[in-house]
Amino acid sequence: MKNIAFSFKNVSFTHSNGQEALKNINLSASTGESIAIIGSSGSGKTSLLQLIATSLRPSTGSMAVFNVDPWAISKGQLQRLRSQIGLVHQAAPIPPRQRVITAVLAGRLGQWPFWKSLVSLIYPVDISGPQLCLQKLELADRLFDRCDRLSGGQLQRVGVARVLYQKPDLLLADEPVSALDPVLSDLTIQCLLADAQTRNACFVASLHAVDIALRWFPRIIGLRDGEVFFDLPASEVSESLLQQLYAAERGVLPKQDNVKTL
Ligand SMILES: Nc1ncnc2c1ncn2[C@@H]1O[C@H](COP(=O)(O)OP(=O)(O)OP(=O)(O)O)[C@@H](O)[C@H]1O
Ligand SMILES: [Mg+2]
Repeated sequence: MKNIAFSFKNVSFTHSNGQEALKNINLSASTGESIAIIGSSGSGKTSLLQLIATSLRPSTGSMAVFNVDPWAISKGQLQRLRSQIGLVHQAAPIPPRQRVITAVLAGRLGQWPFWKSLVSLIYPVDISGPQLCLQKLELADRLFDRCDRLSGGQLQRVGVARVLYQKPDLLLADEPVSALDPVLSDLTIQCLLADAQTRNACFVASLHAVDIALRWFPRIIGLRDGEVFFDLPASEVSESLLQQLYAAERGVLPKQDNVKTL
């Protein structure tokens, strides 16, 4: 049975400097659903993912995650809710001197008792779990490397491995393949999709690569200037819609070589 993973009703969000990032968002997503968010730089993709992750609070409107308003519950309940949500950040917040294994183990900090979290920062409390996640992303041999000895693409995959290790019910990824070559991009997206589907988690990823979005995701949300411009099955996203999504602000048309023609 499908349950609602998150829903937004008339949600707007304005940053503290007065910059309005999202306007009147109405959206809902079910468990087991996989969604790609596309749109120009500055269209609001990161802001939307951070709202879903409960890292940001809506300025107006209402929202629910697993049928709970995250802003109307106690701090302890919010902490438990957040442990069910995993976000791969656009820029991975990994301390440079940290070992890869410690960075991956950090995925479960919110789920473990305090003592175990503390020990995991000093001594790996699990090796095979992180190793399995890294193996899926072709990084198994980097388990004990320091994160500041990794390339940008390797570090990005450590961020993905961390969320795979967390096993959240709501899996969010902000540009998770922006630093990867085409083959690794497909592999990484397939990994995230398979993980979410196996566990009936809801998976939402923002992507600049429209071809990857259309190839792998059944539902596509196009954000333009902080608003939902379209919310459609991938098969209904036409070239002309994409041109309107990306070209409107610049008055130029993007190259469409990689986009399937309908
Ligand atoms: N911390 C912030 N403070 C003030 N304004 C911000 C902040 N973060 C983003 N914005 C503004 O909010 C709007 C949406 O930004 P957001 O980062 O959500 O876009 P994005 O679609 O993720 O862009 P990109 O593709 O470049 O990552 C932009 O106008 C941006 O300038
Ligand atoms: Mg962004």
